[in-house]
Amino acid sequence: MSLQFRVLGSIAVLLLLSLLCGGTLLILHARSVVEVEIRTAFQGAENSVRDTLQSDVQHTVTMRQVVSSFEGQRHVRAALINEQEKVIVSSEIGRLKDPAPQWFARLMTPPPLSARFNIKLPQYPCVVELTSDPRSEIADVWDHASDAFLAMLLFCAATMTAVSLAVAYALRFFRRFQTGLLAISDGGYDARLDAKGPPEFVALAKGFNHMAARLKTFSESNQRLQQQIHSIQEEERTGIARDLHDEVGPYLFAIQVDANILAKSAEPQTRSMGAAIRDAALHVQTHVKEILRQLRPVSSLDFGLEPAIGDLIAFWARRHPDIRFARHIAATPGLDRRGEDVAYRIVQESLSNAVRHGKPTRIEIVIADLPDQVMVSVADDGGGLGQELAGGMSLGQMGLSGMRERLGTLGGHMTVEEVKGTGVCIRAFLPKIRELEIA
Ligand SMILES: Nc1ncnc2c1ncn2[C@@H]1O[C@H](COP(=O)(O)OP(=O)(O)OP(=O)(O)O)[C@@H](O)[C@H]1O
Ligand SMILES: [Mg+2]
Repeated sequence: MSLQFRVLGSIAVLLLLSLLCGGTLLILHARSVVEVEIRTAFQGAENSVRDTLQSDVQHTVTMRQVVSSFEGQRHVRAALINEQEKVIVSSEIGRLKDPAPQWFARLMTPPPLSARFNIKLPQYPCVVELTSDPRSEIADVWDHASDAFLAMLLFCAATMTAVSLAVAYALRFFRRFQTGLLAISDGGYDARLDAKGPPEFVALAKGFNHMAARLKTFSESNQRLQQQIHSIQEEERTGIARDLHDEVGPYLFAIQVDANILAKSAEPQTRSMGAAIRDAALHVQTHVKEILRQLRPVSSLDFGLEPAIGDLIAFWARRHPDIRFARHIAATPGLDRRGEDVAYRIVQESLSNAVRHGKPTRIEIVIADLPDQVMVSVADDGGGLGQELAGGMSLGQMGLSGMRERLGTLGGHMTVEEVKGTGVCIRAFLPKIRELEIA
């Protein structure tokens, strides 16, 4: 249940309860007002009739006058009744403006009041009867009560509108806040919130903006550090390759020369030992060459990304002739040398992973030129993740993290997707030269 629904729902329930209590109190109060009013009016009427009867009434004419004095009275009706219980004359209640609805009248009607006064005229004994009639009073009370209830209803509606506006305003801010946080979690450290509105929101927005600015600084310095680490690693790799080349190369050559001399010896045993040493030296030389190629593969980028990737494919195709390699490489993907280097390394490690950890029959390499970034993808059908072959053949699970680090130095990112249990697809996104220059 959303927060908005909870807040508005509880306020609506509270308002409804207060409306209910208010309405009940209103009805109870109105009921007592009607009762008191009718009783007072009735007592007044009784007193007035009693006063008249105390004087010496000699004729029915006087009694008729008494009854007609009640004509148009709002709460009490009078009637003159003869011995046979026939109404000789009766007064009428004043005209009702707007009678109250029946349900309200039923709630309000007090117990009926009536009084009879016997007049013992010698020739004409009769009775003056007074009865209460609350309709007019109930109509008045209905007028006031409905006005008061309408006012309460309007107050509740206004409160509800004001609260929903305030909640919607607050939630709008929190939605912006949430969008900002999501942007930050995706690395969008340029996200900022408008510092306006109530002071609490201004403080939150300022805090958010400060955090985003700090994260941006950290991310930039982290990127710079990664670039430094990357170039130091490259330098070390190049240094190791150079040392290996310079130190091991001459000795290998010397061993070969010496072995050749031994191989030409007149002594057959020495000759065969010389040949064996020469073969072993040749073997070591092939391996060292391979290591040097691995340490300094980037030099193949001198001829461009496409030929370098062609070399990689040829490297694996020689060892795995059963695998079909497909490649779609954009003509000018818009990468500088650093970008090409990272793209190359990603393809290199992905190919190596595909053949080492799966059993692919097909590997597809795509380098696509997208509007504001370059996508490098390597997809295989080798069985998917978790298809570890016997022996593992892992050098410490540093391949994927290495790819991410290299991408991080350029501000790129990557995903590792499992293609429906059939294989793995590595997709890396590199910013183009333009973005790199700004960064
Ligand atoms: N194409 C793939 N097919 C199947 N499994 C894969 C594939 N790519 C990666 N993996 C799995 O992901 C794991 C991590 O790969 P990563 O390249 O980081 O490490 P590694 O290859 O095991 O070791 P290293 O690359 O350091 O020699 C691998 O051990 C493997 O289980
Ligand atoms: Mg690997």
